[in-house]
Amino acid sequence: VLLNPGDRVAVENPSYLAALQVFQGYEVDVHPIASDDDGMRMDALEAALAQGPVRMIYLTPTFQNPKGTTLALERRQRLVELAGRHQVPVVEDDPYGELRYAGSRLPTLASASAGNAEVIFLSTFSKTLAPGLRVGWAVASGPMIRAMAVAKQSTDLHTNTLTQRALAQLLRTFDLKAHVARLCAVYGERCRTMLGALQRSFPQGAQWTRPQGGLFLWCQLPDGVSTERLLAAAVAQKVAFVPGDPFFTGAPAHPYLRLNFSNRPPEAIEDGIGRLGRVLAQALAAAPVGQVESVHARARPARRL
Ligand SMILES: Cc1ncc(COP(=O)(O)O)c(C=O)c1O
Repeated sequence: VLLNPGDRVAVENPSYLAALQVFQGYEVDVHPIASDDDGMRMDALEAALAQGPVRMIYLTPTFQNPKGTTLALERRQRLVELAGRHQVPVVEDDPYGELRYAGSRLPTLASASAGNAEVIFLSTFSKTLAPGLRVGWAVASGPMIRAMAVAKQSTDLHTNTLTQRALAQLLRTFDLKAHVARLCAVYGERCRTMLGALQRSFPQGAQWTRPQGGLFLWCQLPDGVSTERLLAAAVAQKVAFVPGDPFFTGAPAHPYLRLNFSNRPPEAIEDGIGRLGRVLAQALAAAPVGQVESVHARARPARRL
């Protein structure tokens, strides 16, 4: 609906892998916007907007995939203000917003914008009920929803009606709110367990995000570690993670891992992070010092005084 080949799309870097793949399929020019622990950086977005037309901004402001970070309130306000001024539609992908374990709820971009910017809000039952249902929803202006419905018809005809009816029936009889509260209690404990285990088991030089919700956290490893080799060694110890590289639009400056905390009980998380920490310590001990230094130097050039 929004894009033609060659159009520039601003995305958080790193970003949700499947979204990057969709953009690549449409041959758009994906413009990476740097992020930190408070989400997409507004100075970087502003610089991108100043460089020339941006046709769309795509981001996951709350409990981002892969980092687990959340866009700070001031940045939300700034983003919708910039999008409104430059008339750039914003796609707010929010599959995880309901899964909050700490901190207080922030306004969605859609509500922060108060109609100043065109925000297309997306969410899903995938993270709260079942991903196999393939049912989600969009909130946007009337003309935008109509255009999306026409485009969707030519893409997949329609979302399975039987599943939608079954889901509607379920929501009449099932207490989804109580279910989400239960998920938050269980996942919150698992998140805290993983954070504690990382602190105890990961070698010095590794650092990670501290999510207030969602399913993942993001870990930066000392330069010189190959996440591909690390994954093979970890799998041999029956622990898996997602290497960070594919979430970036180009080569990342450091090695990263995405760790999921929602899927295993606390004891398994404790055990798994312990094993991963030992594998990582071995990888660091085996990495030739020269290699670590040269990668480090490439990633972060020495500051000139
Ligand atoms: C940011 C983001 N958007 C969308 C999805 C997928 O949602 P759905 O199952 O509704 O396609 C995911 C799942 O991993 C995600 O992380």
